[in-house]
Amino acid sequence: MTGLFKIAVLTSGHSRGSNFKAIYQYINDKKLPIVVDFVLITEQDPPIKEYCASLNIETIFYDGKSKINSFLLELFKERQCDLIVLAGFMRKLSEQFLDTINTPLINIHPALLPKYGGKGMYGSNVHNAVFTAGEKISGATVHYVNKNYDEGDIIMQQSVDITDCQSPEEIGKKVLAIEHQIYGAAIEKILLGRTSLLKD
Ligand code: GAR
Repeated sequence: MTGLFKIAVLTSGHSRGSNFKAIYQYINDKKLPIVVDFVLITEQDPPIKEYCASLNIETIFYDGKSKINSFLLELFKERQCDLIVLAGFMRKLSEQFLDTINTPLINIHPALLPKYGGKGMYGSNVHNAVFTAGEKISGATVHYVNKNYDEGDIIMQQSVDITDCQSPEEIGKKVLAIEHQIYGAAIEKILLGRTSLLKD
């Protein structure tokens, strides 16, 4: 037993991987006993792949030939991670997968759940809805994943004032900065029972 925790990061599509970078930097800066075992990608060459290569982190490519839920179950049986981290992973995981997997799974959502969550609420759709509703505050939420979109228990949440934002894109930028602050801290809290960064 090395005392090291192993996490896997799942992305999908043309992932820019900014949350993954922030998580990696957080782990490194705080010298946490956590290693990134691998990063899942679902496209041949998303921007995140190059970043992983520069850090010598393995990327595993899901080529779409088998069902993603059974592919992931096999993978996690083999790799035995302590935590599965969704970062820009937009695929629906089946109820059977969630019932079978015995590793905790977490996600980051670009709004203050339970508001602006649910089917179709991802990425820019969330910020468009927040902007249209004229909200003064938005934020980011790290939560466990369960069978209902964005309804798992909340682990960490941080809000940000968006009264000066003139567009959904401006909201998205502010919220992304918050995501980058809290995701690493939430992982630390789950695995190590503390956070170096935030009180919550
Ligand atoms: C992030 O804003 C994350 O909150 C969002 O996708 C983006 C991924 O960015 N996820 C969702 O909307 C999930 N419902 P990244 O690839 O730069 O980390």
